[in-house]
Amino acid sequence: METPVIAINMKTYPQSSGEAGRNLAKLCQEVAEESGKNIAIAPQQTDLALFSLDYPIPIFAQHVDNVAQGSTTGRVTPENIWSIGCAGTLINHSEYRIDAEDVRLLVQKCRNLALTTIVCTKDATESKAYAEFKPDFIAVEPPELIGGDISVTTAKPEVIEDSVAMVKASSPDVKVLCGAGVKNGKDVKMAIELGAEGVLLASGVVKAEDQRAVLLDLVSEL
Ligand code: G3P
Repeated sequence: METPVIAINMKTYPQSSGEAGRNLAKLCQEVAEESGKNIAIAPQQTDLALFSLDYPIPIFAQHVDNVAQGSTTGRVTPENIWSIGCAGTLINHSEYRIDAEDVRLLVQKCRNLALTTIVCTKDATESKAYAEFKPDFIAVEPPELIGGDISVTTAKPEVIEDSVAMVKASSPDVKVLCGAGVKNGKDVKMAIELGAEGVLLASGVVKAEDQRAVLLDLVSEL
């Protein structure tokens, strides 16, 4: 995935379900095309196949399970999302934490399938530890700021700076994103200045009254 990037996690909000989700995905595609900037989306799991077919922007799963294909009812495997053309997956999101060993194995499985991995972390120490598994991206998001009104770039800029420094020291190829409370172009600008190669956000776009205006503002600082 090209950077800098605005990655939008649609979570399971009503504003990103069904027709509203389809409209938002279309809007992301349009703004990416019009601006020439990189936007990726992680739609609701039930929309993955549809959006992968409809939109060229990178489509990510919000989670995949570390299980084998076959008699594993109700799970979503890396192979499943690969087979429908997804670009990659989030792993270990704050709202869907998994064991470190599962993180390691999922990164490895996804790498073998050429799927891009975004491993979410809660702080700089965890960013460093998970960067050693060599995902494509670490996305650091202090859990207490997720869904709130204060951006991580304002509330805890040191978490981003420290994550970038610690990740790059041991795993220079791993890119760092940041998220939690990111709302506008100013937050994106600050994230980039702090060394991140983009942001991962949700409510700032999904719950916005004018989603197009927010998307345009976000990409304006890339
Ligand atoms: O995955 C992105 C996320 O957890 C941040 O959410 O609503 O604070 O942008 P939000």
